[in-house]
Amino acid sequence: MFDSMMPLTLVCAMLCVSACVASCPPRCECSDAPRTVRCASAAIPRDASSLIITGNAIPRLDPSAFSGPQNATLLNLSDNGIIEIGSHAFSSLLALRSLILNNNQLVLIHPEAFSVPGSPLQELSLRSSLYNYSSLTDLITALRWGELTNLLRLDLSGNRLVLLPPGVFAPLPNLQHLHLRNNSLVAIYNGTFSGVEQLLELDLTGNAFRTISDEGLRELERLGRVRLLLGQNPYACTCEAQEFANWLNSSKVRVDDVDGLYCEFPASLRGASLRGISAQGLGCYGNVPEEITDLSLQTSYVFLGLVLGFVGMVFLFVVYLNRKGIKKWITEIYEACRDVLEGYHYRYEIDSDPRLGHVSTATINQTLAPWFTLRSL
Ligand SMILES: *[C@@H]1O[C@H](CO)[C@@H](O)[C@H](O)[C@H]1NC(C)=O
Ligand SMILES: *[C@@H]1O[C@H](CO)[C@@H](O)[C@H](O)[C@H]1NC(C)=O
Ligand SMILES: *[C@@H]1O[C@H](CO)[C@@H](O)[C@H](O)[C@H]1NC(C)=O
Ligand SMILES: *[C@@H]1O[C@H](CO)[C@@H](O)[C@H](O)[C@H]1NC(C)=O
Ligand SMILES: *[C@@H]1O[C@H](CO)[C@@H](O)[C@H](O)[C@H]1NC(C)=O
Ligand SMILES: *[C@@H]1O[C@H](CO)[C@@H](O)[C@H](O)[C@H]1NC(C)=O
Repeated sequence: MFDSMMPLTLVCAMLCVSACVASCPPRCECSDAPRTVRCASAAIPRDASSLIITGNAIPRLDPSAFSGPQNATLLNLSDNGIIEIGSHAFSSLLALRSLILNNNQLVLIHPEAFSVPGSPLQELSLRSSLYNYSSLTDLITALRWGELTNLLRLDLSGNRLVLLPPGVFAPLPNLQHLHLRNNSLVAIYNGTFSGVEQLLELDLTGNAFRTISDEGLRELERLGRVRLLLGQNPYACTCEAQEFANWLNSSKVRVDDVDGLYCEFPASLRGASLRGISAQGLGCYGNVPEEITDLSLQTSYVFLGLVLGFVGMVFLFVVYLNRKGIKKWITEIYEACRDVLEGYHYRYEIDSDPRLGHVSTATINQTLAPWFTLRSL
């Protein structure tokens, strides 16, 4: 499908963005209908050293797509809407050192996509190019199969990455510059950067780190002479960040933008420098600062009041709904009490003062009457 003419067509298409509409470039055939441009193979000089083919619609890169310019060292395929990279797509470019694939939508990356005999590749840039997490899985496989042992620079910025599987960069033993800027990374684990012992620069700017756990700190510490960038992350300056703040002050790892790390949470510390924040500021002595305790106590009283009020209202409502039944119930109790009281009173009178033995129940009824006005409910 993708014969050796194809890339040249692409180059022409690029050249044509402005010019071709008016006139067909030399050595090319242009046809009106789908605005197709076909160029003779001589259109790309075989000794070209940099190929810049950008801004086209190239959904698929097929095997050996670039067979002409053997000595090319740079291939820039940015902004081409590339969806799929087939196996051995670049394998005829035996001198290729830089492969730039920024701003594409890679859904499928063949495991042998980056296989080039002799593994000459030194730079691979995939900025804003991975379509979703499946593409990352594909990429990891392709990095492993590609045996990119000479790769020095990998750019995966702007790919919405949330999670990096352990050992993801291990197939790149000589990697020196790793750019993970503008992703959504939240944590570094033991093993995230295992196997990349030569790393000189690690850019984690603009991710979603709220803090870096002890485990993550140990992992970074292991990288030794790396130059770290950690800015523009939404750091939470709570007690848990204590370890991280101390580490920033004491670590042998160089954090280049250490003075540009700011708290995002809590609101009272927003914009404060993470490094300058003292243990007290992080609220670590006595666990929680006093105002916060007071506030939460007040909050819980208010809440308790509301709950009790609500329960009370429900109770009154139930009472109201059952007023007939309650009235009946109270009447019954009253009757029962009266019988009992009468009995007792009578016996008491009899026992204590035989002379009053004649007191009738009517008297007792009168004495107790005020207590049972509820009867009129
Ligand atoms: C590629 O480079 C090699 C060695 O530098 C040279 O012999 C050869 O002619 C070059 N090929 C082209 C097509 O320029
Ligand atoms: C690759 O092409 C893009 C788009 O034209 C351009 O912005 C970028 O600078 C190029 N990069 C290289 C290394 O040529
Ligand atoms: C990624 O996108 C492809 C194509 O739309 C889809 O088949 C695949 O399931 C998606 N993977 C994930 C993890 O969402
Ligand atoms: C960050 O990445 C997104 C895609 O994930 C992109 O749209 C956006 O332009 C990037 N922002 C910067 C500042 O690079
Ligand atoms: C990290 O993982 C390695 C190997 O999996 C293990 O030997 C080491 O103990 C772990 N380190 C920590 C701090 O968990
Ligand atoms: C870090 O060092 C700065 C001064 O260099 C100091 O003001 C700050 O309190 C220290 N922070 C911690 C958490 O030790």
